[in-house]
This record gives sequence, structure tokens and C-alpha cells, in this order.
Amino acid sequence: MYVCNCNGIREREVRAAIDAGAARPAEIFKACDSAPQCARCVCDMRKMLQDGREALRFAAE
Ligand code: FES
Repeated sequence: MYVCNCNGIREREVRAAIDAGAARPAEIFKACDSAPQCARCVCDMRKMLQDGREALRFAAE
């Protein structure tokens, strides 16, 4: 499934970027060698970043 249609960035690529340490959408774009265009995907990226942080918090408890 695509998260970013403008750049063809798939969900698994976003997850890989987050797993590699991306903490902001700008860092996800950089990890995917792309740049924001319409920025409609930024909300979805932020949600995935937040979900990742919550998963880490639950894992640490
Ligand atoms: S959908 Fe990602 S920049 Fe447009």
C-alpha cells in the first residue's frame, strides 16, 4: 500500500525509515530519497511515527 502517492513511497518503506531512526516526516522523505510535494501523506506519516513510539513505550513497560 502506498503512503505517498506523489513519490511512490510504500508503507513498508516508511516503516523501514522509522526503524532506521527517522523521527519526523522530513527524515522519512530523506531516507526514501524524495521530497514532499503535495504533503497529503504527512499526516499518515505522523500517525505511523506516533504508533511506532507507542509500540516502543508498551514494549518498555
Ligand atoms: S502524497 Fe506524499 S507528497 Fe503528495
